[in-house]
Amino acid sequence: MSRALRIAGSILAALVALLLATLIYIHFVWDKPVDRPAPVMTAPHDSATIARGEHIFKDTWQCWRCHASPATDGNSSPSGGRVFDLRSRGPGFGIYYARNITPDSSTGIGSWTDGEITQAIREGVRKDRHMLFPLMPVDWLKGLSDRDVLAVVAYIRTIPPVTNRVPDSEPSFFSRALMTFHVLEPMPPITRPVGAPPPGPTAEYGRYFATSVGGCAECHSPRNLQTARFYEDSLFAGSTIAFGSEQGDPIVSYGRNIRPVKDLGIGHWNEEDFTAAVTSGMRPDSTVLDPHMPYAQFKFLSGDEVRAVYLFLRSLEPMGRTAPAPWYSVEVKQAKGTERGKLLFRARCQPCHGLEGTGARPTSVRLTEVESSMDDRDLKDFIAAGQLNLKMPAFRKTLDSTELDDVAAYIRSWKKQ
Ligand code: HEC
Ligand code: HEC
Ligand code: HEC
Repeated sequence: MSRALRIAGSILAALVALLLATLIYIHFVWDKPVDRPAPVMTAPHDSATIARGEHIFKDTWQCWRCHASPATDGNSSPSGGRVFDLRSRGPGFGIYYARNITPDSSTGIGSWTDGEITQAIREGVRKDRHMLFPLMPVDWLKGLSDRDVLAVVAYIRTIPPVTNRVPDSEPSFFSRALMTFHVLEPMPPITRPVGAPPPGPTAEYGRYFATSVGGCAECHSPRNLQTARFYEDSLFAGSTIAFGSEQGDPIVSYGRNIRPVKDLGIGHWNEEDFTAAVTSGMRPDSTVLDPHMPYAQFKFLSGDEVRAVYLFLRSLEPMGRTAPAPWYSVEVKQAKGTERGKLLFRARCQPCHGLEGTGARPTSVRLTEVESSMDDRDLKDFIAAGQLNLKMPAFRKTLDSTELDDVAAYIRSWKKQ
């Protein structure tokens, strides 16, 4: 064998050995317990604190959206829910299950201390010292003040416990490698008291609300799809993730750019336009937002909260990025008549009216009971015109005439059963 070949052979052998060593290293190191204690904290139990926690849990962060199944509304039990199958997202991140966070002591978080729950929410570290995959939005929750995070804990303690064992999440090899080499790691330990600006209609409170309390930053910021990290320099400039695609939703959309860019989105909206869009889903051009933007829950935001976010977003540098308009899934495009009406109802009406029109927290009206008072024409006209004073959006510019017919036919079909 020539000398050159022998050298090449040794280099190859060394590379293979290195690769093997790396694989073995990742295998043994990726879920090394996080070496930090849980903070010692105690949540107050007065009714104002619990109400604040409930507001954050149901209306702003909507923890139930991921942690409940079915996730009908804020009253759905967070006993474990959504499956996030990220095996084909980017390089493949694995499969994750939103966990049972009811105070059940065997399958939920009933045996966790207030400090341990706080640490899971703000630092992404579980009671068993393993890190949470950042599907759980710790990038933003880390900024919650002690008062607010303990309010969430106080509220969770009041939820009825439900026994439901959720399967363990299964990070892919790629995710394990990211964890081994600290590309993905828990948030830094919080060892000092965390405060928040005083609540009120100020840009300063708006920044706190939009990032740590309201979830706006989570959905409206671009994320690096190779590392699952957010691009800190372009927060609020629009998401790189399409909401609804991995869930098989009938409608899919991107979180839009909500920086004040001239002639784009909120750049040419006034405060009234902004408030209407955020709390009732109606854009100034009378189109209705896709409910992946949780406007149905944001109707419970206070006037000061919305004003604060508006003032804060206005204070940001414009940054031009446009997100594609929402689109319907293939199923919707192929369906006809009542079948299409059902899918359109799921896409557009279900967040406020419940899956089968039986009511949901944003509006408890039961469509199954009321529709008999309206004839076909009235029903179609009502859906087109909405009832803006009650925050029922007007769908005239969002659903065309045959789509309105199909939705009305679907609502009618309940009576015939
Ligand atoms: C976008 C979806 C999503 C939202 C919103 C969300 N979570 Fe989670 N959460 C998850 C997922 C997924 C996990 C599990 C991650 C893993 O297995 O690594 C999790 C884990 C947790 C855990 C750890 C439980 C355990 O047994 O390990 C707690 C506690 C928790 N979430 C509380 C909350 C609270 C409180 C909120 C609202 C303030 C919230 N979550 C909002 C997706 C979400
Ligand atoms: C769970 C994800 C999610 C959260 C949380 C969220 N949004 Fe959205 N938002 C979206 C999506 C998706 C759209 C696009 C909807 C569409 O295209 O119809 C959107 C659209 C908007 C729009 C309309 C922009 C335009 O140009 O039409 C505004 C304004 C807005 N969001 C503001 C906010 C604010 C303020 C918050 C926090 C209080 C927030 N959003 C929280 C997902 C979210
Ligand atoms: C943001 C929440 C919201 C969404 C989304 C929504 N609605 Fe409504 N809807 C309401 C509210 C609020 C009322 C008024 C309830 C009342 O009278 O108290 C209402 C009332 C109605 C009524 C009349 C009930 C009655 O007794 O007069 C019909 C019919 C209806 N909605 C159909 C629809 C359809 C179809 C869609 C989807 C295309 C839809 N709604 C989407 C909030 C919503």
